[in-house]
Amino acid sequence: MEIIIKPTVAEAQQETAKILRRQIQSKPDSVLGLATGSTPIAVYAELVAMHQRGELDFSRVATFNLDEYVGLPADHPCSYREFMREHLFSKVNIPPQNIHFPDGRATDVPTHCAEYETAIVRAGGIDLQLLGIGREGHIGFNEPSSSLASRTRIKTLTPQTIKDNAKCFGSPDKVPHHVITMGVGTIMDTRQCLLLATGEAKAEAVARMAEGPITADLPASILQMHPVCKLVVDEAAAAQLKRSEYYRWVYDNKPDWQRV
Ligand code: F6R
Repeated sequence: MEIIIKPTVAEAQQETAKILRRQIQSKPDSVLGLATGSTPIAVYAELVAMHQRGELDFSRVATFNLDEYVGLPADHPCSYREFMREHLFSKVNIPPQNIHFPDGRATDVPTHCAEYETAIVRAGGIDLQLLGIGREGHIGFNEPSSSLASRTRIKTLTPQTIKDNAKCFGSPDKVPHHVITMGVGTIMDTRQCLLLATGEAKAEAVARMAEGPITADLPASILQMHPVCKLVVDEAAAAQLKRSEYYRWVYDNKPDWQRV
């Protein structure tokens, strides 16, 4: 895992956006896996700015989002589809037919989940998967105890995640308890993972993910087994990493051609 520690939240967000820009510029028909949540909002704003400056063309990009709430219609203000429309899709030129989400209103959930997996394969697989991390170490909504081989399926959120996601809903009792999420195995099949974590609240999960044992108790720890995984953190999220000096040394010694 390549661990990139940036002094500020803004610099961590910019580095993440630059890695995405490089991906799209080097492969204009990239298949991107996308995440929602508060962490990537500024990354999407940066991508929109790059697009407006003429640096990024999304016309051949395809996207698959990680997850969606069960029971919410697509146009619900707190659905993840609506989140993505607001922060990215309404502002760049991704063709609507290239945008994919789990359907929170699917009537036959197992069949729908299997179809989502098939759609990813048909698109050629995900080139780069953007991720965030939950305080308890989830990726997507693969909460602690998720199978490390899991595929897209329905999951029950933990009370902590419900609390963390309550903002849009106004109160935790309004947050759906279930989501459809890509599985840990689905995420591990992507060609590259890019996880952005910022702020003190993520420091423990980040340290356990990067330096702790691989365990279903902290699903993100499986990323230690991903062949191409970048972790971008600000100082606050890096605070509990034991080998942070080494990670900085690696970054400072990176050859120019590997920089974004
Ligand atoms: C969202 C997702 C989640 C979030 C995580 C962090 O699509 O898959 O894993 O990335 O819960 O959320 P924030 O960024 O709100 O702290």
